[in-house]
Amino acid sequence: MKNIKDIADQVFAKTYARNPICLVKGQGATLWDSNGKEYTDFLAGIAVCILGHAHPAVTDAVAKQAAKLVHVSNLFYTEPQTLLAEQLVKSCFADRVFFCNSGAEANEAAIKMARKYFKENGQPQRYRVISMEHSFHGRTFATMAATGQDKIKKGFEPMMDGFDHVPFNDLEAVEKAITDETCAILTEPIQAEGGVMVPFPGYLPGLRELCDKKGILLIFDEVQTGMGRTGTLFAHQQMGATPDIMTLAKGLANGLPIGAALATEDVAAAFTPGSHATTFGGTPLVTAAALAVLVALQDQDILEMSISVGDYFKNQLLLLKEKFTCVEEVRGLGLLLGLKLSMEGGPIVAKAMEMGYIFNVTQANVLRFVPPLIITRKDVDGLIAALDSILAEQQ
Ligand SMILES: Cc1ncc(COP(=O)(O)O)c(C=O)c1O
Repeated sequence: MKNIKDIADQVFAKTYARNPICLVKGQGATLWDSNGKEYTDFLAGIAVCILGHAHPAVTDAVAKQAAKLVHVSNLFYTEPQTLLAEQLVKSCFADRVFFCNSGAEANEAAIKMARKYFKENGQPQRYRVISMEHSFHGRTFATMAATGQDKIKKGFEPMMDGFDHVPFNDLEAVEKAITDETCAILTEPIQAEGGVMVPFPGYLPGLRELCDKKGILLIFDEVQTGMGRTGTLFAHQQMGATPDIMTLAKGLANGLPIGAALATEDVAAAFTPGSHATTFGGTPLVTAAALAVLVALQDQDILEMSISVGDYFKNQLLLLKEKFTCVEEVRGLGLLLGLKLSMEGGPIVAKAMEMGYIFNVTQANVLRFVPPLIITRKDVDGLIAALDSILAEQQ
């Protein structure tokens, strides 16, 4: 077999700084590379494979559905898509769902829905969205413009009009930024790519109050925080505020490409036949997988276990903070955890990978841990021991 890395380096657009291993197999929270080396996965495809790799219920659902019907146009009804939408609306504030293929597309749908809502409701001047500094909402033109990080936009200017940015976790700044042209506030309940930033407890309820007062919409981007990542199915469910629109992707089908924009009846009414569409949105194959994910999350004690392992994990990280001066802060909720260092995190990630642990770094110096929700205390102990020895070398 030709060396995959050599071929890849010649044929791919150079969009990713890839780690020098080729992964070939996964089972639960374990991954294997092409040399047979084993890794414990604390990244899970960046918060995607929440049930772990090759989860039997998902594998079975995909295999059975693939043998029956992979794709039909959204001009027809299908059972898995319909049952998934039904389960999703039962599990949260929303009444209606639009399926697409990714987080960026889910946010595109949310932004389009918010604009159209006001066009349909006699306030066509309201089209601007307030989003947060250091946020991340995707790489399409609208979601890139919504994103609050210059490095994501560099080289692609001019940005699409219609987005205003304010500091995260600052209600006064949001209130000042709202104008007669504002249609919505868009935020992640916890900023994940932005360095695992958890807002103060009154922040999301404060945003809800502002939206109600000003008659504008609240959109929560739960692409990364959703599907049990923080201990509740959706993060906002433990943060005291309900949005008008919520976006999902990542964990929804445990690795098959899917996105969803969920909204209340009133807001979703902005979309009528022809308003918005996508060829692959919610195919029978991906929605069968997502249904299996939802059933697994509901039937098994996965969320409860993930909360207890998450608490344990956070406490172990706090012990590292006590021990090493280069650890500045432990952040996060559930199994979305960050360790802010006083130095670059890249070399730590590389050393940990050599020792058989996979995670990544965000904002240059925040180690980010988003393992499958089935991760165990034993896995956490192994990672902490590896981090302990790596950080000891840095002191
Ligand atoms: C909060 C958030 N929104 C949107 C996205 C974009 O999702 P996708 O990469 O599926 O387009 C991401 C991806 O990391 C994300 O974390």
